Amino acid sequence: MSTAAAVEFDGIGQSFSGVRVLRGVSFTVGASRTLGLVGENGAGKSTLMNILGGNLRSDTGRMILRGQPYAPAHPTDATRAGIGLIHQELNLFSNLTIAENIFLTSFPRARALPWIDQRTLHARTAALLRDVGLELAPDTLVDRLSAGERQLVEIARALSLDARLIIFDEPTTSLSARETGTLFALLRRLQSQGIALIYISHILDHVRQLCHDLVVLRDGAVVAQGPIETFSTPAIVSAMVGRNLTQLYPTRRGAPATEPALEVRGVSQPHIVCDIRFTLRRGEVLGLSGLMGAGRSELARILFGLDPCSRGEILVSGRPLAGANTRRRIERGLAFLTEDRRHEGLCLEASIADNLALASIRSHARTPLKLIDRTGWQRAISTIREAVRLTAKAEDTQPAQTLSGGNQQKVVLGKWLLASPSVLILDEPTRGVDVGAKFELYQLIMDLADRGSGILVISSEIEELIGVCDRILVMSQGEIRGEFSRPEFSSERLLAAALPRESPA
Ligand SMILES: Nc1ncnc2c1ncn2[C@@H]1O[C@H](COP(=O)(O)OP(=O)(O)OP(=O)(O)O)[C@@H](O)[C@H]1O
Ligand SMILES: [Mg+2]
Repeated sequence: MSTAAAVEFDGIGQSFSGVRVLRGVSFTVGASRTLGLVGENGAGKSTLMNILGGNLRSDTGRMILRGQPYAPAHPTDATRAGIGLIHQELNLFSNLTIAENIFLTSFPRARALPWIDQRTLHARTAALLRDVGLELAPDTLVDRLSAGERQLVEIARALSLDARLIIFDEPTTSLSARETGTLFALLRRLQSQGIALIYISHILDHVRQLCHDLVVLRDGAVVAQGPIETFSTPAIVSAMVGRNLTQLYPTRRGAPATEPALEVRGVSQPHIVCDIRFTLRRGEVLGLSGLMGAGRSELARILFGLDPCSRGEILVSGRPLAGANTRRRIERGLAFLTEDRRHEGLCLEASIADNLALASIRSHARTPLKLIDRTGWQRAISTIREAVRLTAKAEDTQPAQTLSGGNQQKVVLGKWLLASPSVLILDEPTRGVDVGAKFELYQLIMDLADRGSGILVISSEIEELIGVCDRILVMSQGEIRGEFSRPEFSSERLLAAALPRESPA
């Protein structure tokens, strides 16, 4: 086996409209090594990987792949060179099946004939799905998959290419604990096959578990690198954020009031959720834990009026919603941060300012002419930008799609914070957000609770729920299976409650 480095970056520089986002980045991924690439939101990690993956030509610098100069002009060049890139933002065609998505550029053909060999397509897809631990038929439409399942399909696609170097750009953001376990087993298998990996994540525990080497990017430059065992976790964090961070979660000062913000009474929808009952109080941060497919996001969508419910009643501040559509629910004080920011949370081509405006612009319309109070509006936007710490590099007029993943998430949260909702439902609110900015987001959530809103947080990170919630409900198989108050919080208990029950014989 060749001992040449898997890839060598040499002085890579990149600017977008005059703003430098990568500055002379040089480091090496050793043969058969796994390198962890970490850094704050907007540090330049995905940009560097897009250069490696042939999506972007760098302004300066060069790359050497297994000892050979490498300058991809197109993603297919990268594929041919044995590079598999699993993007941070999911890139599947939702109107195609899983199998079609995986083999889009390399359909198995029947002998020399032009048509697709459906049997091989089906069998190879089924094998890949088994590899990534996804129990779905190859001909399932991607449209019907959850974010976590889509992430696993992306990974299956990279595996289908027989890559020698695979890049995982935040692969676990929408996976729950169990799926993450399956993914890690798979990564270890790839490692043992001598495949080099670049692993990008904001979950430093995962980086530590999986990686041999570490590179820390800050503001587009390498600020630390070396074997992982030479770094303590606080040292990684301070290299990332450029300061010491002593606490991961803000201290919860306020306490829930007694009045209900949201009452859910026997909400049911066949095969989705069954007889859901709970009360979210004003000023309360209530967690919703569970494994992927437990019905948490589905419940959130029902509460927000995006999906139907056949039975039950939902009350906001004591008044029934009674069939109100989503727009009416927003007017009644409900807000919902979706887990799929790219497709449901943002208008990607619209500016940052317009995205922030979406949910609250009406409140800046002055009667009687309903004209927008521009000054007040601008003030609101700059306050919220500062509150969510949106990168100062981005202009208000810049399209949302040019922001880094974590910064896009801050825009979606900012949009709802501007609407001052009385009930805020958050589905995976810190997906892709760096450790420093997470703290700020938790603080914003707690502040909103202290001002009397009820907050329902869905998260696959149990530690996060334990860190921010007053109470946690656990869902499994569409039902609520457990309720825990602060003194009872423990990951083991929450996990145990989340496991599906064996069906009776
Ligand atoms: N097409 C583009 N036009 C303008 N700016 C861009 C474009 N693509 C990326 N950027 C900017 O480059 C910087 C680096 O972004 P990048 O996506 O590489 O960050 P990241 O380290 O992956 O962050 P995250 O952890 O949030 O995913 C950001 O400031 C981003 O706004
Ligand atoms: Mg990124």
